[in-house]
Amino acid sequence: MEIKIAPSILAADFSRLKEEVVLLEKCGADLIHCDVMDGNFVPPITFGAQTVMAIRPHTRLPLDCHLMTLHPGTHIDDFVRAGANIISVHVEACGIYTPAILQEIQSRGVRACAVINPETRAEDLFPTMPIADMVLVMSVHPGWGGQKFIPESIEKIRSLRTHAQKIGRPDLDIEVDGGINEENVKEVIAAGANVIVAGSAIFSSPDKKAIISRLRG
Ligand code: DX5
Ligand code: ZN
Repeated sequence: MEIKIAPSILAADFSRLKEEVVLLEKCGADLIHCDVMDGNFVPPITFGAQTVMAIRPHTRLPLDCHLMTLHPGTHIDDFVRAGANIISVHVEACGIYTPAILQEIQSRGVRACAVINPETRAEDLFPTMPIADMVLVMSVHPGWGGQKFIPESIEKIRSLRTHAQKIGRPDLDIEVDGGINEENVKEVIAAGANVIVAGSAIFSSPDKKAIISRLRG
């Protein structure tokens, strides 16, 4: 499968977001991962749809909006209007309504993704997989960049790829987010992930083009 690299702008210089996304596109990024945190679902507050709208004119890359918010269903319209191309919502926030919220996102012409935290079982994503455009495994506890990759995530990715094959969606995008670096990315890809989020690994590197190409595995 094609490997896509999604740099997380959580690690960017927020005073220069325009220049940062322009540079990421130039350096070969496939998506721009936007970490939206509400101070409730996770303790920190980052930014919302207004910031996504501000960067929208400066890149042609899809904006991958990861909503770490308690009531993601109430923000869909704002993010669609802001120009999001993918909206990801947490199973821990949406519960049994996750498939309905994914359909709501898709009805606005935007790709929909379901996310699980490290303490949530891979099986809890299974009911979303017949309809989701992507599923996302958090490989750190959401809220902060720069944490250490949780090794149990590998088994979850493997079981999601196996399930995707079983339900006739072998090419379903499986994204992984948190603590990814040059050392662990090969194992993550081998387990079946094909969309790789990386924040600190990319932004701490002096050569973003080189690190993005090495993260392709
Ligand atoms: C964590 C965010 C991640 C984070 C990844 O809550 O969802 O996207 O920015 O950053 P690194 O790659 O530094 O773990
Ligand atoms: Zn994220």
